[in-house]
Amino acid sequence: MTASGLTLRLSLPRLCERFPRLRLTLARAALGTFPTPVHPLPALSREAGIDLWVKRDDLTSPRHGGNKVRKLELLFGDLLARGAERFLVYGPVGSNYVLSALLHGRALGLCGHAALFARPLTAHGRENLALTRAVAATVADCSGVLTLPWAVARQRRIVARATGAPPYLMPFGGTSALSTIGYVEAGLELAAQSRAGLCPEFERVIVPLGTAGTAAGLAVGLGLAGARTSVLAVRVNDRILANGLTVRLLAHRVISLLARLAGDDRLARARPAPVEVEHGFFGRGYAIPSPEGEAAIARVAAREGLALDSTYTGKTAAAILAARSLRGPRAEGAWCWWFTLPRRGTDVPRTPAGLQPPGWPDDRSKTEPLAAATSPSPGWGRS
Ligand SMILES: Cc1ncc(COP(=O)(O)O)c(C=O)c1O
Repeated sequence: MTASGLTLRLSLPRLCERFPRLRLTLARAALGTFPTPVHPLPALSREAGIDLWVKRDDLTSPRHGGNKVRKLELLFGDLLARGAERFLVYGPVGSNYVLSALLHGRALGLCGHAALFARPLTAHGRENLALTRAVAATVADCSGVLTLPWAVARQRRIVARATGAPPYLMPFGGTSALSTIGYVEAGLELAAQSRAGLCPEFERVIVPLGTAGTAAGLAVGLGLAGARTSVLAVRVNDRILANGLTVRLLAHRVISLLARLAGDDRLARARPAPVEVEHGFFGRGYAIPSPEGEAAIARVAAREGLALDSTYTGKTAAAILAARSLRGPRAEGAWCWWFTLPRRGTDVPRTPAGLQPPGWPDDRSKTEPLAAATSPSPGWGRS
């Protein structure tokens, strides 16, 4: 039992089967429903000219799905094992990850604080932002990513002063070596589904590349499984954060951490699956819709009835639809689209009405003193 009275599920089943010591060294908060389904996309396969399947990580949780759930299980596991009760999560306005952390943290009985920096807002982002403001105990706004470290440090101090303990600091984009272990397990999960005959052994897995956790974790997991699958990561974030080097470095940090936690030297010699980064679909910037992405959103909705977003899945779908011309003969074999967009569950309203943040009784604290502590830039964050 933990400080908040919650029981941790202490294992990731496939990793722990291989490396039993992880049962003792890796804490996991049970948030998701696994394995997620994998199925073919026949209409889109015909359109793209490849054998295309989808791995439904939009269904990781009935509360708020998407690719953050596997990462949050490890982060909240660590938080609970340390006996913390509050956390601070930061990111761009409209972030899926910030909202996901707040919603899942709330379900665990934790109190979540947020710091947000200005970025362009899509319609999906605007909806996320409204819910974020409703569910966070406090929100600090800042004008850009450059002032974010200052805003985060200041908010941490304010929360620590008010509550007697600093909040647990969540990593940017939910990505750290620890949280990426969730996607190592996911790579093993897909390999097990192939072995069970539920899907082919894929030639490649295609995934958006934001802070690299999803792509790096999958590469390590597929490598550990001995699969012949490679990872095609479609860059949707600025090149300084999202490139081949950041994926490889993170993969190696994850392998080192796993080897240490598992106490197994064989793991330290593990090789991740090959990763290729596709830069051609980023467009003009992060969260700025691209013409190819918007066209792909309409085509995927018409062919398969899947709803995409402009920031991540739309740009990835554009790469998939161009697969044949992009990859030539390498488009042979089956492809798996790792579908990362959160699907919001029925227990979370589409609008902020009725959402109450836990454990921060003074309502005014939401705007005072935290909002006053940072400088919101005029004009952003409003619809
Ligand atoms: C829907 C969606 N897909 C993909 C990503 C990128 O994943 P990663 O940061 O692990 O590269 C994100 C990150 O926020 C996301 O929200």
